[in-house]
Amino acid sequence: MVLSQGKLLTESPDRTLAERAASARAACGPENSATSRDRILVVATDASPIGGLLKFLTQDYALKAVDSRWDALVPGNLQSCFALILGERPNEPGIADFLERLNRTEARPPLVIVAGPKNGPWAHFVERQTDADGLVFTDAPAEHQIHTFRLLAGNAVDRKIAQSDPAIAKIWSRTKGLLYDLSVRIRAGQPIPRADVQDLAASVLETVDSPDLSNFLALLRDHHAELMVHALNVGITALRLGRHIGVRRREHELRLFETGFLHDVGKLALPLPILQKPGKLTDEEMAIVAQHPIESEKILRQSGAYDDLVISAALQHHEKLDGTGYPYRLPAEKIADISRLIAVCDVFCALTEHRSYRPKRSPEEALPVLREMSGHHLDPVYVDRLTELLTGAPPSQS
Ligand SMILES: [Fe+2]
Ligand SMILES: [Fe+2]
Repeated sequence: MVLSQGKLLTESPDRTLAERAASARAACGPENSATSRDRILVVATDASPIGGLLKFLTQDYALKAVDSRWDALVPGNLQSCFALILGERPNEPGIADFLERLNRTEARPPLVIVAGPKNGPWAHFVERQTDADGLVFTDAPAEHQIHTFRLLAGNAVDRKIAQSDPAIAKIWSRTKGLLYDLSVRIRAGQPIPRADVQDLAASVLETVDSPDLSNFLALLRDHHAELMVHALNVGITALRLGRHIGVRRREHELRLFETGFLHDVGKLALPLPILQKPGKLTDEEMAIVAQHPIESEKILRQSGAYDDLVISAALQHHEKLDGTGYPYRLPAEKIADISRLIAVCDVFCALTEHRSYRPKRSPEEALPVLREMSGHHLDPVYVDRLTELLTGAPPSQS
């Protein structure tokens, strides 16, 4: 196998890594073949520069960790991954021998990345050699490193989605296209097009009962841009919860998806450095984000295509029944029914989605958190109904 030219990942490490990951995957042979590679293999012990992050990363990403470089050379490991990340120091005993043996094996992954500090020995090694394709900076902030891994793993997940049911692949590509289009329009002060959202809603409705859709959402929750996954996740959850409580008319089902999908549309108007920040927000940034329900209302009214149902859910989904929510600290009697339903879906989805500053919870872990919020924050009726839906209880007859 021809080695790519070794280069230091400097100015834009994520982008460079993404490009390298794309070409590495392209070198991995036909999709669905026995030799298909969809994982990243990380070799690192607790003492290695990247060891501290490993436990967290391997829980949440399409990674496999091995704690000895010799274990990594087992063909079964090497053949299933498109990238290998080596977390040890270049001057560790036996490392040169390892790299030499790695280069000789047929199963060598197309991308070999090393992990170390920006000015550490690996940097010099990568600058002058051809055995590694790039360097993940272990002295970068943890959220930056996580973001880098996420980007690599996310690409692998995109490939999986492309191989899945064409209807599912269509939903994901439409969602990405639509949210990009909405953000461009919102920033240009143009109204958002309802027809495109309805079109996506119709595609979702066709597959809403399919287990493939749940698998697809589970994949997305782990790996993809928060806002996109969240919009789709809340839309689908609202649609499923609506059906569970007895909504049957197609137009109502479609509108439930739209309401969930657009509940945070005002976030697309937020300053980009805040919207795209990989880590936890400061108090000032949080205060700006807390304006998103008001932005959502403005955008939806401007479009002229949405009624009060969709608009109140967007405006009120952060209000709480005890009157301590935002933006208006509304008392319970002023919070619309649809806003209560969307609030429950919103909290559940947020808890089960990955965030760069914390791992996701499983649905089983999220439901008790929802129950704790039930009554003073969330509407207990919808908390109970969502719990019924997710724990497999039969649908209600109401
Ligand atoms: Fe929100
Ligand atoms: Fe939300």
